[in-house]
Amino acid sequence: MTQKFLWGVATSSYQIEGAVDEDGRTPSIWDTFCATPGAVSGGDTGAVACDHYHRMPQDVALMKELGVDVYRFSLAWPRIQPDGRGPGNPAGIAFYDRLVDELLEAGILPWITLYHWDLPQALEDAGGWPARDTAHRFADYAAIAYDALGDRVSQWTTMNEPWCSAMLGYVHGQHAPGRKDVRAGMAAVHHLLLGHGLATQVIRDRADAAGRADGLEVGITLNLSHKIPASDAPADLAAARWDDGMSNRLYLDPLLRGAYPEDIAGKLAELGCPLPVRDGDLEVIGQPVDVLGVNYYTSRVVRAAPAGDNGWPASTSVARDVERTAMDWEVTPEALTDLLLRLDSDYPGTTWYITENGAAYPDVADENGYVDDADRERYLRAHIDAALAARAQGVDLRGYFAWSLMDNFEWAYGYDRRFGIVRVDYETQERVPKRSARYYAERIAAEKGARC
Ligand code: FCB
Repeated sequence: MTQKFLWGVATSSYQIEGAVDEDGRTPSIWDTFCATPGAVSGGDTGAVACDHYHRMPQDVALMKELGVDVYRFSLAWPRIQPDGRGPGNPAGIAFYDRLVDELLEAGILPWITLYHWDLPQALEDAGGWPARDTAHRFADYAAIAYDALGDRVSQWTTMNEPWCSAMLGYVHGQHAPGRKDVRAGMAAVHHLLLGHGLATQVIRDRADAAGRADGLEVGITLNLSHKIPASDAPADLAAARWDDGMSNRLYLDPLLRGAYPEDIAGKLAELGCPLPVRDGDLEVIGQPVDVLGVNYYTSRVVRAAPAGDNGWPASTSVARDVERTAMDWEVTPEALTDLLLRLDSDYPGTTWYITENGAAYPDVADENGYVDDADRERYLRAHIDAALAARAQGVDLRGYFAWSLMDNFEWAYGYDRRFGIVRVDYETQERVPKRSARYYAERIAAEKGARC
């Protein structure tokens, strides 16, 4: 296999930046959600987070020390285009200008995610993702972002984990905007995917016009998970298939096959929550992507459960006797190999990246702030091995990003869960690389050495 393999770290805007009301940024749905009593553990907010907005050069220097090839970060839509409409905001764009330049100066490839969940609140007030217009607003924002940064950035991810935006945000209410409306959630699924397609067109058109189509890589990142039936009983097989359909195929199929999976779309319509597809939408959503990003954390053994009164298929998880992270997620690296092999066989010809993988553990820092996180090191090693095993079996996997560069605001869990390979002391904002960061740096160096 001669394809280059990129090693990276990932973060997202709201989780690290802070500076929520500086330089013209307007509130996002996460600012509003954090201000809702009881929504986020400990009443935490992203108002300061890792103060990355002010400490960016130091954070890029940290990445350089780790020896990563690439940094995946997201743009805050309400910084770039306050209120989600109208012209770009030069002061907000200037931050990402500086970040991109700093990265290039350090020899690190910038990889931009346009949407990692911080929708301008003004757009939520206008209906949010359940409203079709939001997909068009997203394409306008993509145009502004590409015009500002496309001369230096070739890697563009439209959406991060639309499943989380739609299901956690609009169905279960655990993430911003905290709505609990399954019909709205299914509309959000479709409009997030439509937004992806429209933004992809905009970026490609602009890259073409500027003579930069060569080397451009546009794609989307999904959170995918291997769903394992608890037994061969038809009910368990059907439950696992439904779970796989709602979490994986509902996104993969329209993106990579140009059609929603019939079993899922049909059942959703029957349940009164249809996907609001209009003529031509699936061509937009299903246009070719250069990259499909996979965020992988765990897998699930699925057992059928009696359907509820509302008629929705139900299931329970069967606990396995394996290690669990501080999120209570089972550590199942072998399922990552299985997932990648399955993706490669069901969606041949796709280029894959692991755009997130990592773990929260109950870190304990010594007097110097150092964390001897053997557990996280073990997690990373096992998952990198599992990813490379799939690559060795022919999967076109081109890179791996550790989540996350540093501890940060873990959404509804606030600062209570630490995923970083670098510790952040939230009192002093001091950054101290953990044992897992040393491991990751050594692994990258060794892997690169092995390829020379
Ligand atoms: C993913 C998110 C990321 C982070 C990790 C732990 O679902 O994309 O922001 O919260 O989980």
